[in-house]
Amino acid sequence: MSGFQHKEFKKQPDTQHQLAPQIFPAYGGRHYQAPALKMTHADGVLTTDLVYASMRQTSLDENRTETVIFLKDSIYPVHVEVHFIAYRKENIISQFTEIYHNEKKDIQVEQIASSFVPLHAQAYYLTHFYGTWAHEMQQEEEMLTHGVKTIETRRGIQTTKAEHPSFILSINAPAQENSGDVYAGTLAWSGNYELSFEVDETGRLNIISGMHPFAATRTLSARDKLRTPEMLLAYSPNGKGEITRNFHNWGRKYGMMHADKLRPIVLNSWEGAYFNFTEQTITDMIDTAADFGVELFVLDDGWFGSKYPRNADNAGLGDWHVNTDKLPRGVGYLADYAASKGLQFGIWIEPEMVNPNSELAKKYPEWIVKSGQRDILPMRNQWVLDLTNPQVQDFIVETFDRILAMSPHINYVKWDANRSIDNVGSDYLPADKQSHFWHDYVTGLYHVYERIRAKHPDVQIQLCSAGGGRLDYGALKYHNEVWTSDNTNALDRIFIQHGANTFFPAMATGAHVSTSPNHQTGMMLPLKFRFDVAMSGRLGLELQPKDIKGDEIGFAKAAISCYKQIRPIIQWGDLYRLLSPYGPNGWASHMYVSQDKQQAVLFAYSLKYHGRTEYFETKLAGLDSTKQYKVTEINKQHEWSVFDGNEEVFSGDYLMNVGLMLHIGSAFESAVFLLEEQ
Ligand code: DGJ
Repeated sequence: MSGFQHKEFKKQPDTQHQLAPQIFPAYGGRHYQAPALKMTHADGVLTTDLVYASMRQTSLDENRTETVIFLKDSIYPVHVEVHFIAYRKENIISQFTEIYHNEKKDIQVEQIASSFVPLHAQAYYLTHFYGTWAHEMQQEEEMLTHGVKTIETRRGIQTTKAEHPSFILSINAPAQENSGDVYAGTLAWSGNYELSFEVDETGRLNIISGMHPFAATRTLSARDKLRTPEMLLAYSPNGKGEITRNFHNWGRKYGMMHADKLRPIVLNSWEGAYFNFTEQTITDMIDTAADFGVELFVLDDGWFGSKYPRNADNAGLGDWHVNTDKLPRGVGYLADYAASKGLQFGIWIEPEMVNPNSELAKKYPEWIVKSGQRDILPMRNQWVLDLTNPQVQDFIVETFDRILAMSPHINYVKWDANRSIDNVGSDYLPADKQSHFWHDYVTGLYHVYERIRAKHPDVQIQLCSAGGGRLDYGALKYHNEVWTSDNTNALDRIFIQHGANTFFPAMATGAHVSTSPNHQTGMMLPLKFRFDVAMSGRLGLELQPKDIKGDEIGFAKAAISCYKQIRPIIQWGDLYRLLSPYGPNGWASHMYVSQDKQQAVLFAYSLKYHGRTEYFETKLAGLDSTKQYKVTEINKQHEWSVFDGNEEVFSGDYLMNVGLMLHIGSAFESAVFLLEEQ
């Protein structure tokens, strides 16, 4: 035992350096963990030693303060600025980094993170979101053990299909809705990313987030400055519910277009018609949509291509002129027709992509992403255009202009991107800059978005990448909403929307009622359940509306009109999750509360058959305990209510501490309630 008294066994840090976490550790010195910066200097030296130089704090406006920490290498003229923008009201911090230098020759930046967050606690619980096509944003929570856990993508496009660049990190215990120390982040970047969580031998956790260093070394000349994407960070001592509400408030104010305008109810033609339509099919759909109370019709894929008509996914992509065999009077006629019925009109495009069977691919082979002499691998029968090339950027901007010029009534565009990038490479970039591709593709895309938005600030644009494959605040900031998933099956949607709405507000997440049996899963679900699930996002329809028949017509019309009544609460309200669909008992429930707490909407879902003696019970949240609320079941299918106290008045205190008991319990039964202050 005496050996433990020996001075060699006493805990002694090698240097002060090692114990104090740095704000932006570079590879070099005694930082043995993953670095936030790794670069090679002009003379070949591999290490960097960043030291504090100065700091600056600026008030950008009454809500935002920017703090910049200036770091400099102790020997080389390399400068790193670590930027933090604090959003006071929303309680979000955006962090990003800039690097520049004055070395005699170019430097090589192999990795530069957006943020480095060191934490020290007894245990760390990581919640993250994984998935695949039609199965996006599936939530998983795990306790981190020593070593490195990485969340990443190398797909270039469809970057949020399999993993999502976001996390919730709960300290010492699994994350709770309304209690506990919780950190969270989501990266605003539509390209390759890496989020790493390293628990080192001292028990400290380093979270490094940013662009993926994979095959992305960047040559930086003394003229250039490299700026990373923003990592949006949040902390709450009150659990992950508050984190979600903070991100929603931030997203509505800073992360998407025109959140001050309520989103219209959409009928999208895809699942109702696919590629198989005539002018009559579309005008019939518009007629029925108008009758149902729908406000915007979207003509999806299949309207373009003449030499290579787009009648399936194997031809025509890139040839953005109307297929007049299908639509003899053009898209303008349809948009005008929709306007005559009181509907806005939207149109689908996929401007980053091209089918080999297209006039565009044959005319501009040098515009296609390719890896030297290797075969260009098709995915969904298509190739990717090289957005690092300014000519391609011009082509997309011009295409967008031409499409909008087809009719003044086109005021919505669904922008799709249906494949990832493999066999990477560019005919445009020089040989020694091929590794710039991953970064320059995304900045090229953002440049295109900026040019389009400068010209068309008011057009609604939906962000879609085979569903939720591009669900990030980097892209969303130029868009009005996302197409959350190609999976429209209401049961699956409860989970997908639960994940997506962790960071993105309901008004940003398109949620459509589709037909039964569902086209993706074959599952049959009641129309009410399908509506009740879609109504908790941005409601729309994704079917041939004529397939709604008999009694269901009246129900669908009433549901659409009901959504119009509660829409402001859902789209602008605060989300409170009550029962997680991942919970053990097959229920899900959440509610939206208006910011003034005068109104709320409660959603309750039964996800399986519950025995006759089991019932749905939950305490509500987010209300004002001193207010009195009338509780009314809405969107009902029957005369009677599933709540014995229907239309009675309860105090907020009662509703939040005693709660409600509902008579639902069959598989896929659901209920919606409106709460109004009396
Ligand atoms: C994938 C989208 O997610 C669908 O909604 C639809 O627009 C198809 N592409 C069309 O090709």
